[in-house]
Amino acid sequence: MRTKAAVATAPETDLEIQNLEVDDPRSNEIQVKMVASGICHTDAIIRDQWYPVPQPVVLGHEGAGIVEKVGEAVTEFNVGDKVVLGPTFCGECEQCLSGHPMYCINFFDRNFGVRRADGSTAFSDADGTTVGSHFFGQSSFAQYTNVVAHGAVKVEEDAPLELLGPLGCGLMTGAGAVLNVLRPKPGSSIAIFGTGAVGMAGMLAAKAAGASTIIMVDIVAPRLEFAEELGATHTVESSTVDPVDAIREITGTGADYALDTTGVPAVFSQMTKSLAIRGHGALVGAAKLGTEAAFDIGTLLTSGINISMVIEGDAVPREFIPRLIALHQAGDFPFDKLTRTYAFNDINQAFTDSAEGGTLKPIIVF
Ligand SMILES: NC(=O)c1ccc[n+]([C@@H]2O[C@H](COP(=O)([O-])OP(=O)(O)OC[C@H]3O[C@@H](n4cnc5c(N)ncnc54)[C@H](O)[C@@H]3O)[C@@H](O)[C@H]2O)c1
Ligand SMILES: [Zn+2]
Ligand SMILES: [Zn+2]
Repeated sequence: MRTKAAVATAPETDLEIQNLEVDDPRSNEIQVKMVASGICHTDAIIRDQWYPVPQPVVLGHEGAGIVEKVGEAVTEFNVGDKVVLGPTFCGECEQCLSGHPMYCINFFDRNFGVRRADGSTAFSDADGTTVGSHFFGQSSFAQYTNVVAHGAVKVEEDAPLELLGPLGCGLMTGAGAVLNVLRPKPGSSIAIFGTGAVGMAGMLAAKAAGASTIIMVDIVAPRLEFAEELGATHTVESSTVDPVDAIREITGTGADYALDTTGVPAVFSQMTKSLAIRGHGALVGAAKLGTEAAFDIGTLLTSGINISMVIEGDAVPREFIPRLIALHQAGDFPFDKLTRTYAFNDINQAFTDSAEGGTLKPIIVF
């Protein structure tokens, strides 16, 4: 079957819209007719080869669509079901079996290997050249794509699929880091570094959890103004003031919780220094392999702080995505305010707007 898809062919180069052949779903897969897909910063860094992911490849990992075909061994989906797509995992390792599939020991291979476990890909181009598929088990920048079924989450028949794709990665990451890992107590303080889609999702989640001091830190002033509109109690423009001093002044003691969504080494160090005694900080921002950040072990030993490295909000997507949808329906997680839709043909513009800071969470609509 033919499908239109956006193909990454080289670093720092626009995705190419091509007509590809997509094969039939394997027994553990569903074929999904994509309705929409969010674009995550991770799509951009993989296009640019921060991690060694083979190209050409169809990226995209915040898909939402309708089940078109069902593999023989799949029992939980029917043709016509609406699904939001999350990452894939092996389901057999200790982490998967203990309720932490986002730390699956096979996570990198399964999500970044862009091949099935048997080495095949779902896509090939007009010359018969194979094109990588199954990025995060889904490769959602394609109108039709084969998806590992256990990564898909069934949603209600009237669910707004044009909106929900980003719950599968960026928003699950920010909200999950806060709700599943940091778990701020009502009345506590939290500092969030980076006011992109991930940081803003963290902010909305912190507000929903009852944190009463929510400090957003960024170097882009308009993003900070928007954060204030959506619930930040304080903002810090860290290009003009020292964020550690500012956070200590606002809180008196340092922040009870902190989240670094930038992956910038200096920001990670700032986060560790801005925490209160026995505070808890988390890193979700991605950096190139081998990136190191300074950590003052001399001073911080006595602080009793905790630092967590968090993948995909340590979520179980089939539990957490419906929870986020319910929070959204109740008006407590208004993530629709972060999104902007683009036609599929404008996908490269969407990447540019996201990189330049004008769009927080682009969603391409097929
Ligand atoms: N851990 C995971 O599982 C996971 C999942 C999804 C995304 N990510 C990563 O999370 C990060 C955030 O994603 P996003 O979509 O929000 O990206 P984004 O680019 O929209 O947001 C990053 C924000 O950080 C700000 N920033 C950059 N340098 C800064 C500095 N020195 N000080 C303060 N702020 C600074 C930027 O201005 C921007 O607002 C990315 O690195 C992405 O790859 C990780
Ligand atoms: Zn596993
Ligand atoms: Zn992502």
